[in-house]
Amino acid sequence: MNTQQQLKEAYNKQAKHRDSVITDDWKTNEREGFLRVLQREKKTSLLEIGAGPGHDSLYFHQHGFHTFSTDLSPEMIAICKSKDLEAAEMSFYQLQFPDEQFDALYAFNCLLHVPKAELGEVLSELKRVIKPNGLFYLGVYGGRTSEGIWEEDVYEPKRFFSFYEHEPLQSLLSAFFSIESFNVIPSNVIGGDLAFQSIVLRKE
Ligand SMILES: C[S@@+](CC[C@H](N)C(=O)[O-])C[C@H]1O[C@@H](n2cnc3c(N)ncnc32)[C@H](O)[C@@H]1O
Repeated sequence: MNTQQQLKEAYNKQAKHRDSVITDDWKTNEREGFLRVLQREKKTSLLEIGAGPGHDSLYFHQHGFHTFSTDLSPEMIAICKSKDLEAAEMSFYQLQFPDEQFDALYAFNCLLHVPKAELGEVLSELKRVIKPNGLFYLGVYGGRTSEGIWEEDVYEPKRFFSFYEHEPLQSLLSAFFSIESFNVIPSNVIGGDLAFQSIVLRKE
């Protein structure tokens, strides 16, 4: 089984559980912050990748955005659809949308599943579907460099993760987008040994 198939199976099994978990305050602050940026710039359409059970898509939808939720896991997409969200099973490696379709793109804790050797390829695919001057929220755990299967993972099969120190990530992202903001939420707020990198990017 390759990495994508392993992730799909792991998240399919956890879809109902993840839908039942109440979103942490620091996470709701993140989406609220991005909502304010989008409203200020009068953006109206938003693609969420790695949407999981659609908590964040639903939030943006309820605030008047035309959202489209995508995820690798069909179980996650079924939950999104049960909330009347427009949604489709789709990998962010190959988005089934024309060029420059969306005002904004939202990626919360999903690009950490991309091997370092493949992140450039994924970033250019994401950039393709964003309109010129469009915005891209990217949030990932990080602050140290590592990649591989997380051996202590309770998900089955165990998941692949890739983490970055701040500067290498900034440098990689700036080859594709301009960086509007790069904020670090420290590990003591997140709970655990990783920080959270909260990034707003713009397609020039
Ligand atoms: C840690 S979960 C985050 C889900 C949601 N964004 C949240 O914050 O609750 C990562 C999600 O990314 C999805 N995912 C992983 N690889 C993907 C890929 N190549 N394309 C689309 N979704 C992917 C998984 O199925 C999973 O739902």
